[in-house]
Parts: sequence; C-alpha cells; structure tokens
Amino acid sequence: MKLPSRVKLVEVGPRDGLQNEKQPVPAAVKIELVHRLQAAGLREIEVTSFVSPKWVPQMADNAEVMAGIARQSGVRYSVLTPNLQGFEAALKSRPDEIVVFGAASEAFSRKNINCSIAESIERFAPVVQAARAAGIYVRGAMSCAVGCPYEGAVAPERVGYLAGLMKGIGVQHVGVADTIGVGTPLKVQRAIEATLQHFEINDVSGHFHDTYGQALANTLAALELGVWQFDTSVAGLGGCPYAKGATGNVASEDVVFMLHGMGIETGIDLEQLVDAGQFISDFLQRKSGSRVATALLNKGLSA
Ligand code: HMG
Ligand code: MG
Repeated sequence: MKLPSRVKLVEVGPRDGLQNEKQPVPAAVKIELVHRLQAAGLREIEVTSFVSPKWVPQMADNAEVMAGIARQSGVRYSVLTPNLQGFEAALKSRPDEIVVFGAASEAFSRKNINCSIAESIERFAPVVQAARAAGIYVRGAMSCAVGCPYEGAVAPERVGYLAGLMKGIGVQHVGVADTIGVGTPLKVQRAIEATLQHFEINDVSGHFHDTYGQALANTLAALELGVWQFDTSVAGLGGCPYAKGATGNVASEDVVFMLHGMGIETGIDLEQLVDAGQFISDFLQRKSGSRVATALLNKGLSA
C-alpha cells in the first residue's frame, strides 16, 4: 500500500452543499463563501449548476454567482451542466471545468435528470464535444456508485458500465459518487476498481456523502487504492434534492485534518477553512457538520 503524498480536494460546498438548502441563500453569501474557500487554499471549487430552476431553485442564481466571484489565479471553477442548454448558459460564465452527471442506477437517473442512463449519455455527448472544443475540461459524476435510494444496492458492474459509456463520449475524469452515503470501505473499493477498468487512477476521484458516517473510512479506502482526488464540502454541507434523506458530503475540514495527520499535503490552511465553514454555518443558523471544526472551535482554534 503506497499512499499519495499530496491530495487534491475539490470543494463542492457552494454547489452540492447549497443546492439542498430549504431557505434561500443570497448570491452575495455564496460569493463570499467562495472567496473564503479560495483564501483557505482551495484550488478547485465547484461553484454552481446550470440546471433547470424549476428542478433546483437554489441554483437559479448561477450566472450571478459566477459573475460575482473575484477570480484568483491558480483556482479552477467548475459548474454542473446536464444538457446543451445548461452548457450554453454556463459558457457565458467562463467555467474552467464542467461536470456532466449521470447515475449507475436507472431509477436515480430518471428521478434526477428525467431520462434513462442511455439517454443521458446521448445528451452529454454533444456537451462534452462542445466543451472540449472550447478548451474546457470535462468531468463526469457517477451517482449511486454503491447504492441507490430507489433500487438499493448497486453492483460494481453497473459502475463499470457507466464509466465505459462516459469514457466513450470523451469525458476526461470521473468521480465515483456515493450519493446516499451507504458505502462501506470494501464496497467503495469495488466501485473504484470497476471504474479503473476504463479510467486511469489520475482521472478518478471520490465523492462520498456521510449519511451513515462512513465517508472518512471510504476516503481512506480510496486512498489505499491510489486515488488522490476527492470532492469534499465545507462544514459537511450537502445532499441531493432527488436523494431524500441523504446528508452532506464528507466535511472538508475533517478530510484535511485526517490527511495532514497522515503527513499528506493538501495546500489548505485548516484554520481558514474552519473560518469559511463557520461563515456559512452562521448564515444557515446551524451547527457545522464537521467534527474537526467543532473540536477546533471548542478549544479556541489553537490546533
Ligand atoms: P426536463 O424537464 O426533462 O428538461 O429536465 P426539458 O429539456 O424537457 O426542458 C423542460 C424545461 O426545463 C424547459 O423550460 C427548458 O427550458 C428547461 P420550460 O419550457 O418548461 O419553461 N431546461 C433548463 N433550464 C435551465 N437550465 C437547463 C435546462 N434544461 C432544460 N440546463 C433537466 C431535465 C436535466 C433539465 C432537469 O431534470 C434538471 O435540471 N435536473 C437537475 C437535477 C439536479 O441538479 N440534481 C442535483 C445535482 S446532481 C447531484 O447532486 C449528485 C452529485 O453531487 C454526485 C452525487 O452525490 O451523486 C453530482
Ligand atoms: Mg453529491
């Protein structure tokens, strides 16, 4: 087992985190959150989604948020685009990366993006082509890589199948997503191994929701396979409106603490990250979902 010496975190709080909030979050708050995250050293930030505002009202301010960010050099800003309409709208916001999002389970694909897996690939293909022609990097998210809220357990073969389809249309990187957080370390490893039949290790990331408290263990299990890129969410925000009951992503603060404790570099300043998490938790009037942030704040941040 050779663990990576450096890990890249993709902060998905502004998108995955805030898409699921009941109360409106003003664009100015989202922009301030992005500013604090980049100040903390995050170099990859998933900012928003260009999806239907009827489906996900919280992301309706996508263009306003993208326009309001004071971009920092060296930081890459990504957005979700489910179809050409979303991609064309996103293009005006000059994202560095777009994310097409599919599912390993048929039922979730239909609930989340209103089409079958096969149809989703047909929709993504022209998006991928247009993005790559415009020099925009394309990532694919593979939801329900371990379990589905509608179908139950999802076999690794289903993940391999989706990864193959994504590779076939020119997606450059895929995220293995445990949407509802039911994965446990060995199951997550099987899903990643199925993905590795189509993508090399440098083009695969982990995206683990923490519903059942398994996300840090799953992160470690992925690290053991050589995965060195993870989506995480400040203060453990997150969820998907079409995966009822699923809670947030693994908290960025918790992953950073674990990695630094293992001698793995992230380039992130934990104190400033905790500050970003505190900012959004205060706005939402909620306690942070990060155990590390809570512990550090309880002892006055003297880590
Ligand atoms: P649809 O209703 O099948 O779309 O929705 P349509 O093409 O038939 O169009 C219907 C209406 O939507 C039209 O408007 C279109 O203009 C509009 P109308 O004529 O009725 O006024 N429309 C759009 N508007 C804005 N932007 C667009 C767009 N496309 C169509 N891009 C659609 C299909 C995909 C649009 C819809 O199902 C949708 O928006 N779904 C988004 C669901 C979503 O955002 N889920 C959360 C993100 S995924 C996630 O969280 C998982 C992840 O974190 C990984 C993990 O944890 O698993 C990534
Ligand atoms: Mg997610």
